[in-house]
Amino acid sequence: MNIAVLASGSGTNLQVLIEQLHEDTATDINISVVISDRKQAYALTRAKNAGIPTQIVRSKDYVSRVEFDAEITRHIENYSVELIVLAGFMKLFQLPFVRKYQNRIINIHPSLLPAFPGATAVADSLKKGVKVTGVTVHYVDEGVDTGPIIAQTSIPVYDTDDEESLHKRIQIEEHKLFPQVIRAHAQGNLKVIGQKVISVSSES
Ligand code: GAR
Repeated sequence: MNIAVLASGSGTNLQVLIEQLHEDTATDINISVVISDRKQAYALTRAKNAGIPTQIVRSKDYVSRVEFDAEITRHIENYSVELIVLAGFMKLFQLPFVRKYQNRIINIHPSLLPAFPGATAVADSLKKGVKVTGVTVHYVDEGVDTGPIIAQTSIPVYDTDDEESLHKRIQIEEHKLFPQVIRAHAQGNLKVIGQKVISVSSES
């Protein structure tokens, strides 16, 4: 299965996907392109180091967000992408894009959704004083982090945590959960029924 990974930042999740999926000859998962909205994103260097084609699509270069999405669509089609993986991609898509790729866009988010959606989830969780947070991997729908939840891992929040220490522990769990979920999707083991995702392999 050809996948596109979209990333805005350092790309530690991308790195895990490269090592555990793309470079694993036992899977048929191929990262055919890495797309970033930021020229300086270290994720692009990680992709280049792995010999994966990269594309930069910056929203400021387009007259509208629909045009920005259309440029990403062009790349998705050029690279025959079947699954779009958002690995720290900090831009929201417009409705036509989300509808076109329904149940074919997977996002990772650093909280236990539906708690703390949006771009500042870790800081928001700490501010609220929650004792447990976590990681959510979900399909993307038209809302902000509201799509069907595929998998979650919970993580305790310690009194001594700051944003950096908590995010670091969250990322350790992200790196375990994300490849598992993408593998399950690629193997056809996930079924979306309304807002719920079930694992077909464990269906009785
Ligand atoms: C990850 O922790 C991911 O959950 C978060 O960005 C980080 C990217 O890290 N995503 C969001 O906050 C989406 N709202 P990485 O670049 O090292 O993979």
